[in-house]
Formats: sequence, structure tokens, C-alpha cells
Amino acid sequence: MTRIDTLLAEMTLAEKLGQLTMTASGYAVTGPIIVGDSSESIADGTLGNLLNMVGPGPTREMQDLAKQSRLGIPLLIGLDIVHGHRSLFPIPLAEMAAFDPALWEQTAREAAREAAADGLAMTFAPMLDVSRDPRWGRTAEGPGEDAWLGARMAETKVRGFQTADLSSPDALAACAKHFCAYGPVNAGREYAAVDISERTLHEVHLPPFEAAVKAGVATIMPAFTDLNGIPMTAHGPLLRDYLRGQLGFDGVIVSDYNAIGELIKHGVAEDLPAAAALALQAGVDIDMMADGYRKGLPVALERGLVTMAQIDTAVRRVLRLKEQLGLFDDAYARGATQERPEAIAGRRALARTVATRSITMLKNESQALPLAPSLRRLCVLGPLADAAEEMRGPWWAAGVAENHVSVLAGLSAGLPGVEIHYASGVGIRDDDANGITAALELSEGADAILLCLGEAANMSGEAASRAYPELPGQQRALAMAAFEQGRELGIPVIVLLFSGRPLIIPELAEQADALLACWFLGCEAGHAIADVLSGRVSPSGRTPMSWPRALGQVPIFFGQRPTGRPENPADYYTSKYLDVPNDPLYPFGHGLSYTQFAHHDLRVSPLVAGEHDHIEVQIEVTNYGEHEAIETLFLFTRDKVASVTRPLLELRAFGKLSLPAGESGTLNLSFPASAMRFLGADLKPVFEPGEIEILIGPSADRAQLMVQSIQLQA
Ligand code: GLC
Repeated sequence: MTRIDTLLAEMTLAEKLGQLTMTASGYAVTGPIIVGDSSESIADGTLGNLLNMVGPGPTREMQDLAKQSRLGIPLLIGLDIVHGHRSLFPIPLAEMAAFDPALWEQTAREAAREAAADGLAMTFAPMLDVSRDPRWGRTAEGPGEDAWLGARMAETKVRGFQTADLSSPDALAACAKHFCAYGPVNAGREYAAVDISERTLHEVHLPPFEAAVKAGVATIMPAFTDLNGIPMTAHGPLLRDYLRGQLGFDGVIVSDYNAIGELIKHGVAEDLPAAAALALQAGVDIDMMADGYRKGLPVALERGLVTMAQIDTAVRRVLRLKEQLGLFDDAYARGATQERPEAIAGRRALARTVATRSITMLKNESQALPLAPSLRRLCVLGPLADAAEEMRGPWWAAGVAENHVSVLAGLSAGLPGVEIHYASGVGIRDDDANGITAALELSEGADAILLCLGEAANMSGEAASRAYPELPGQQRALAMAAFEQGRELGIPVIVLLFSGRPLIIPELAEQADALLACWFLGCEAGHAIADVLSGRVSPSGRTPMSWPRALGQVPIFFGQRPTGRPENPADYYTSKYLDVPNDPLYPFGHGLSYTQFAHHDLRVSPLVAGEHDHIEVQIEVTNYGEHEAIETLFLFTRDKVASVTRPLLELRAFGKLSLPAGESGTLNLSFPASAMRFLGADLKPVFEPGEIEILIGPSADRAQLMVQSIQLQA
């Protein structure tokens, strides 16, 4: 008999259901707070999992309580460590702009180390929801608009959080969330129903989760949402049949917060027992915060809606996860050793590097940037300049404002000898514009105006959909006044834009001399911004989402399917808007540096490829500017004729080259020809012979892509 078999044989129903329950908790001066529950539940073995308890002391105290219980089963304690724990990195959408899988894995690894030192064994990350709608606030947490990129995020984050040995004291169980297709909520409204085609489900929203399962993710969290009429928390075909049956996922499925109870509001369950039965039958193992399993399953058993065998299967998976994490061997290993100061310092250095690499320069005209070495006086305006707490982004885990560097603090430290005159001018979202005039007076005698504009951290993330995803409050008025002042004084106006999504910002795009998407950059935000503005580091970030010109273009993304009437200005009856061009303001992959690159001599081999070949691509890159910088190039394919319509562009690979001024280098990219398999009319994978275009360039702007055709043969 294994340890788990022995335990299972001894466990009462209440103890079994305790292992299937996860309760939110916290630690106040008065001691532990277990939301709607009690620490007695831990001591009597009827609560087996916690979220949001942080710190070696509190977690040790909770593990002590569990150890005193009849069977002494250790607690699983988790937290939303989405982009760092105490030392926050840029939000995931920002980090994707670095287009650097090694960095993505490294930040997850460092976050896991820091969280494990705080006694945690699980994170509710990576969030893998592909989003093409900036109205949806959770766009901030995810991989952006592309499924292939989402899959790369999945595998790097799972490896980073979990390592190859989940029992390691600095490993965390990762949680691929929110399964699945949460991004296309109706009208971009949070928690709204989702209605998409089976094809879009399989081509866009499942691949990142498939990659997470292949990477060995320990847990998965279903989305709150209703997908095509079935709430994900009760979605047997996708949880049981696809995840567990087809992909062979045998880890733990943990519900989202109260999602089991919400099946009643979805209208698929009369009461809690019915809701609990639906979730258990679909394959959900842990009930987070609905108390549906503890209160509902005993009744569901009596009603014959579920069997003890189904309960045992779920308990077995939870106990196995705790065993894989090493919790039975030593529940105190995580949190046992304090981190050394140099480890924390190294982590912040990494955060600074990742932040500089995430900054995406969308515009830079008349050499506004880098700041001239002769610059002596800088006028800094806007509500995001002195806002350390906002740099954290919407999921700040244990990150506190005190250890975040604001823009102002970063500029003061990073621009020695420069006089900085600052005024907020306006708030982030209030309607008071009375401070604009006085603020602008600070620009007299200045060499440049720096505007720090955008959203508050909690204006993106969960429950933060925006029908007008643009500059909030009176910030636009401040910007327009600053542009006018800049023109009058003949000085550049540089905009730093902080947001958890692309914003609709036509005036900034038109009138700013330079415009940088700073997203939310984490604990080293200010230092990273100063590194870039000063020219010490050239910006290299590339946007992982298309930026709409107008909200009316949404959803806008590079992987759109063709139309039978492609836009043609010479023909009125073609696909267009009367009032805005079809293309995005900034395409996927767009991002400027302080230099200029030329791309030439594209070579592709083989020119005729079978399914088992690898397509190798080489291209020469020359830095013909004055600054060292990193170039990122994307490799897309276009399958022009197939048995179903195929996207206009599909991302297959990307690569980077760091080149000093004047230097050239060769970028090698490759992808398996088997990647050209697609879902035929019956949604079954097919590999079809025919011409394929290979397209290479700095963004999804087709006009910037070099093209070479090859032939696929059966
Ligand atoms: C939240 C989120 C989910 C998070 C969970 C625990 O509602 O939807 O992403 O992991 O609850 O905080």
C-alpha cells in the first residue's frame, strides 16, 4: 500500500472533502484570518489548502496546525505570483514585449525562489489567455494576441516556476489559467459569456494550455466563464475528455474563486450540491472558496449525483501533488531558510534588465530620444511620475510600494546634473483640470517635457474592463496643453504611457515627439526608464499586441483570416471602414530602437520540404546607426491555398541580434515543417502540399516583410 492508499483508506468523508477545499487567508496582528473558515478546520483536518497566506512565520504556524490533525496531512499554500513575489517584474504583457524566452523563464524562477522562501508551494500562474480586445482588463496578465506566443510563455513559465524537480524547496507548483478562451468575453466585458467557433477554440485558445501540459504543469484553473453554453467549471468535454483524456493531464484542477458556487448563477445548477456534483464530474479537484465540496458533496452523495470513487480520485490527485512537492517529507522546507541579501539584489538587477527590455518605443521623431547630453532642465508632468505603487501593475502578490522605484526617483538617480521640475498637473482619473496651467509653467526654461500618463494599476487586471480604453480623467487635456507648450518653446514632448493594455491614443501618436509604452514595469521601473531615456540602454521592446487606431477596429490582430474582397482603394466594394484605415496604429511586433537596422540576403532551405523537414532561415542584419541595439525579427508563414481558409500571417519563430553600431550579423531562425499542419474542415490535423510563403521582418506590417516561397510536398 502506498502512503496515499493508506491515507485514503483511513480518511473520513470530512477529511477527504477538506483536501478538496482551498480557503483564502491572511495574517493580521491578531493572528491568522481564514476567510469564512477557521484555523480549527486545519487542526481537525477538514481544511487542506490555503491561498494568500504569506511569510515563513505564518505558513509555519499553519503547517503546525495541520501537523496536529489526526492524519497530519500538510497544507498546500498558494498565491497569485503572476509577475514576481516581493520583487515585482514587469507585468506579463510587458515582459512578452522583451521577446526573450530565457528571460521569461528566469523571472519565473526568481519569483519562485522568493515565494518559496516565504513558505509558498504554489502559484496561480502563468495566465495564458490570448486576448485581442483591449477593453478586457486581464489582457495585462497574459501573452498578448498570439496563440503560438502564448505557448512559448506557457512552457518557459512552467519550467521556471517548477524546475525539473517539484520537490525542490524553491520550486512552486504552477497553475495554467484560465482554461480556457476567457479572453474573448463578449464585448470585452469581464466575466461575460464567451461564444466562439470550435475552430477558433482549437486554433487560438487551446494551444497555450496544450504547451503547458506538455511542459508538465502541475495544476490548471478553469475560467469563470461560460464557453458556448457550458461554464468552464463544469465543462466535462474540455476538462475531462480533452485535458485529461486527450492530453493525458493527470494533475490537479483547482476552481477559480467561488466558481463552483457560481454555477448556480450560470443557471446550470439548482443548488450547491448540484453545482458541486457538476464540477466534480467534470474533473475539478479543488474547490476554491465556494465551500461547495465540503457542504455540497455529502448531499450530492446522498442524491446519488456523485460516487465516493469520484471523490477518492480527486483526493488522490491532491495528495499526489503534495507528495510531488515534497510536503509530506518536509512541510517546512519552503520558508526554512531566509534568502541572502545578494540573492535579492541580483533579483532586482534582473528586474531592471527585464524592465528596460520591456519598454516599447512606439515613436521617436526629431531625435527627441535619447535625451541630449546637454540637457540640463527637465519638466516632468503627469500623475504617473511619482506613483511607485502604480508601477506594480494589477497583480502585486507581496510586492509593496515602498520597494518600487517611481519614474521621478529613477530620473533623479539616473540623470545626474539634470534639474528636474515636477508637477502632476492632473490626477489619474479625476476630472480636475485646474492644475494644468500651473504645471505647464514649470516648462519655462526646460530643455524637454516628459509626460507620465496612463492608467492606475487597478484599471487593468481582473474586474477592470473599460468601454473607453483611453487616457482617463483629464490626462488628455494635460497632454494637449503640453504639446502646445512644447511647440511654443521649441522643445520636445516625450510621453511615457503606463497601461495594462494597448490604449486608444490618437493624439499622443500624432503629437508626441516620442512615445514609449511602459506598461507596468515592476520594482525597478524608474531606474529602467532612466537607463533608456539617458541612452545608456537602447529600447528594444516590441508590442505583443496590435494597437488599434479606434475601438471600432477591435478585435484587431495580425492572424486574421482573408476576405473575398480585400481592401482596394480603387474599388468601393471592398473590406474597409469609411472612417478609419484597416491597419492598426502600431502592428504586432512594432518597437523602435536608437539605431536603424537593414535586413538583407534572406536565405531559406529547403525550398521543397516534407512534413519531417526543418525549415532553416538565414538573414543578414546590419546596424547602420550610431547606437548599439537589439534587433528582433519575426518569422511568419502564409499558406495561400488550402482546404480551409488560412490566417494572413502565422507566427512561427522570432530571433534577436544585439549589434554594435556599424556591425552586421546573421540571424538564424528555424521551424519544423510539421508546424504547417492545420485543422481541416473536419477540425482534424492535415498537412497539405502546396506553396508556402516565408515572411521575415521587424513586425507584422506586411510592407516590412521579406518574402520567400517554398513548396511543401506530401
Ligand atoms: C481570482 C482570479 C484568479 C486568481 C484567483 C485567486 O478571482 O480569477 O486568476 O488566481 O482568484 O486569487
